[in-house]
Amino acid sequence: MIWTALKQRCKEASNRRITSLFDSDIDRLASFSIECDGLYFDYSKTNIDLSTRNLLIHLASSKNVGQYRECMFAGEQINFTENRSVLHTLERNPKGPEILIGGNAINKEVQQTQNRFLSFAEAIREGQVLARNGTKFTDVINIGIGGSDLGPKMVTKALVPYTDGPSIHFLSNIDGAQTFDLTRGLDPETTLVIVASKTFTTLETMTNALHVKHWLADSLGAEVGKHMCAISNAREKCLEWDIPEERIFTFGEWVGGRYSIWSAIGLSAAIAIGKDNFEQFHEGGKSMDCHFRTAPAHANLPMILALVGIWHNQICGHSTRAVIPYEERMEYFPDYLQQLEMESNGKVVKFDQSEIGLPSGPVIWGGTGSNGQHAYFQHLHHSNIITPCEFLVGAMGHEKDLQTHHDYLVANCLAQSEALMYGTLSKGNQNLPKYRYFNGNRPSTTLLYKILTPHVLGQLIALYEHRVFVEGVILGINSFDQWGVELGKGLAQKIYPSINDKNRQESGFSKSLGELISKTHEFRQT
Ligand code: F6P
Repeated sequence: MIWTALKQRCKEASNRRITSLFDSDIDRLASFSIECDGLYFDYSKTNIDLSTRNLLIHLASSKNVGQYRECMFAGEQINFTENRSVLHTLERNPKGPEILIGGNAINKEVQQTQNRFLSFAEAIREGQVLARNGTKFTDVINIGIGGSDLGPKMVTKALVPYTDGPSIHFLSNIDGAQTFDLTRGLDPETTLVIVASKTFTTLETMTNALHVKHWLADSLGAEVGKHMCAISNAREKCLEWDIPEERIFTFGEWVGGRYSIWSAIGLSAAIAIGKDNFEQFHEGGKSMDCHFRTAPAHANLPMILALVGIWHNQICGHSTRAVIPYEERMEYFPDYLQQLEMESNGKVVKFDQSEIGLPSGPVIWGGTGSNGQHAYFQHLHHSNIITPCEFLVGAMGHEKDLQTHHDYLVANCLAQSEALMYGTLSKGNQNLPKYRYFNGNRPSTTLLYKILTPHVLGQLIALYEHRVFVEGVILGINSFDQWGVELGKGLAQKIYPSINDKNRQESGFSKSLGELISKTHEFRQT
C-alpha cells in the first residue's frame, strides 16, 4: 500500500523539476537539511517533496525500524541466519549499558580486549615492543581481505595527517603479484606482520600469510614469532600457527567482518594513528549511534540517508549510486562502502523466506573528486541513465599552505551538484546545439563537515552502517550474513586442483569451464 503510493509519487515526480520544489516551498532547504554534531547534510537537491518524505518516514515506521534498531543495540540475535547478535556498536561504547550474551555481561571483556590491542599498538609505536634486532619496527603489513582489509586500509589513508607511526601496508589479493611487489620493498628485520582474519580460514589471507611467514623466517629463523601477530576470533587456529598467545587479539563473533574496523581489526590503523586518535574515532561512531537512537525520523541522518536511498533505488528504479568524496584521502571510502552496502543488502530473500519483489539495492561505486570530473562525470551529466550522487567534502583541509587548492576543491564539489540540478536550463541556453544541452534535474546529496578528523571519520562510517541497517529492515532482509560469497568460494576450491595439476580432470564442470581450464594449460606450455 505505502509502496504503491510511493511509486505513484515517483511517477508524478518524473515530470517535475527539482528546482520547482524550491519555488513552491521557501523553507525547503531548512526542511531538507540536517545538522548533527558538526555534520551538515543537504538533500534538498532530490525530487522528494514534503509529503513524499512523510510517506517514506511512514514506510520506515510501518517496518518497525525503531524497534529493530533497539533490538540491535540490546544484543538480540537479529542476524537470525547465523544465530548471532550484531554488536559492532558495543566496540565503540563498551562503557555503555550492560549487554548480555548467553546471560553474561560482555562489556568488561570487550573493554579488556580493546585495551590489549590499543596498548600493543602504543608499544609498537613507542618502541616497547621491538624487532628481534632491537630496533623499532619501521613497517607493518596487515594481511587480510574484505572487512579485514578495507576498513583499516580506508581509515589509515583517510587519517594520514594523524599518522606518525611505522608505515602500514596492506596485502589482500591472492594475486602473487601483490605479495611479490610488497615484500620486495621491505626489510623482514624491521617488519611486523599482522594476520587479520575473523575466521582464520580465508583462502587469500592464509595463503598470503604462509608465504610472508616463510619470507620472515628466511631472515629471522626460529624468531619469526617476534614479528607476527594475529587478529581473529579463532584463537585456537592462531595458536596452531605458532602465533605467541600474547600476540593474539580477539573480538566477538557478533562483530561482522565488514563492521569490524572498530574492533581489534583496527590494530594496523591504531598503530598508524595512535591510541588517542583511535579513541576519538570510536567517539565519533558513538556520537552517531546516539543521534541515530534519539533524533526524530525527519532529523535523523542515517534514517533520512536510507530513505533517500530507498526512494532512488527501490521506488524510482535508479540502479546505481555514486559516492564521491572531494577528499583525496578518502580514496578507499567508495570501496569500503561497496562491501558494507552490497555485501549487506545485495539480497533478495526476506526474513520470512519470500522474495523482496523490489530492486535489491543499487550498485555502489565512485571515487574522489575532482578526479572523477575528468573521467565519468560526462556520463553523470549527459547520459540517459540517472545516477544519484552522494558528495562529501570538508570545509577545510589540513594543508594550511594550500588554501587555494582547497577553495578550488570545495568550489568544484559544490558546482557539480548545482550543475546536476540545473543543467543548462538556468542560463536560458535553450538554443544550444543538442550536444551542449543538459537537462539537469539529476538528484544528489551533499554532506559537509569541518575537517576530516578521526571523530568525523567515525561519524561517517557509523552513519553509513546505520543507513545500511535501516534499508535492510525496510526491505525485510538480514543485512548481516553473506551466503552469496560462500558459493563462489566453494567453487574455487573445487576448480583449484584442475588448475594446479593439468592431468587432473574433475567432472561436473560446464563445457565453457572445461575449455578455459584446458586453454590455461595450453597457454602455460607455449
Ligand atoms: O567476503 C566474505 C567475507 O567473509 C567478508 O564478510 C569478510 O570481511 C571477509 O570475507 C574476510 O573474512 P575473514 O576476516 O574471516 O578472513
